[in-house]
Amino acid sequence: MRVLHFSDIHLGVPLGEVPWGDWPGKRLIGAAHLLMGRRRTFSRVKQKMVELDRFRVENAVDLILCTGDFTALGTDPELADARLAVHPLMAAPLGFIAIPGNHDVYMPDGVRDRRFERHFGDTLASDLADYKVDAHWPVIRLIGENAAVVAVNSARPNPNPWKASGRIPVSQLDALARALDDPRLRDRFVFVLTHYAPRLKDGSPDRYTHGLRNADEFLAVCRGIRRGAILFGHVHECYSVRLPDNPAPLFCAGSATQDFVEGFWCFDVNGTRAAARRGRWDGAHYALDEHDVYRWPDPGA
Ligand SMILES: [Fe+2]
Ligand SMILES: [Fe+2]
Repeated sequence: MRVLHFSDIHLGVPLGEVPWGDWPGKRLIGAAHLLMGRRRTFSRVKQKMVELDRFRVENAVDLILCTGDFTALGTDPELADARLAVHPLMAAPLGFIAIPGNHDVYMPDGVRDRRFERHFGDTLASDLADYKVDAHWPVIRLIGENAAVVAVNSARPNPNPWKASGRIPVSQLDALARALDDPRLRDRFVFVLTHYAPRLKDGSPDRYTHGLRNADEFLAVCRGIRRGAILFGHVHECYSVRLPDNPAPLFCAGSATQDFVEGFWCFDVNGTRAAARRGRWDGAHYALDEHDVYRWPDPGA
């Protein structure tokens, strides 16, 4: 089974298309930030998504996972446009699972209006609905005979413009802990998804105003992953990191579309073992790093 994990495409729409009612507070600052430079580094998002779908087809990807930040400002036009841009990827035979990033729920009005759910609700279906404790969460999907995906939501609005931190509600962490021990999941290869990075590339926590506030608690629960991986985005750098006290490696997909740092991960799961290769953008197409393959668990583990 081949799994593609990408994140943080940050598809923006022309500012003139943002409804007037979507402009209060932080979104003005976010828009100014975009205008001042960030937007230039997300200049070819739609073209890159077409190429990412070409990669999916040519590389026989079975399942697509996206860890959020589809948009820049979480407005309705952006979410609608992002949905259209990723729609071809939803043809993957084992499906498409998506979670929101902080930019998709940029302000409380987006949560109140259930905007992400309105545009991506069909990606949030759960096979083990008895574990739902917080709206859709956790989303649990059983994939074939040997794999599973468990997604917990760490994205929340941050009306204070100096903060972009996240937190996984305790009820979701409790449900994740119980699900990882469920006989229906326990012996599968489990991908645990959230938006925020529990650790940076060097194994240290992200900074307080940008990171996952309860990363330690999340990682403690993830020690219950017997075989699997922890996937996330938010940090726009594609990396993997191993923690000494956690058997599941961590993979940050970075941004699939930000100029000069494009990346994603491609996993081949074979029974209880997996191999990860990094995806790169060569200026016109996406391709895999075939010479740098990370395999786990170690034979005999
Ligand atoms: Fe992002
Ligand atoms: Fe983010």
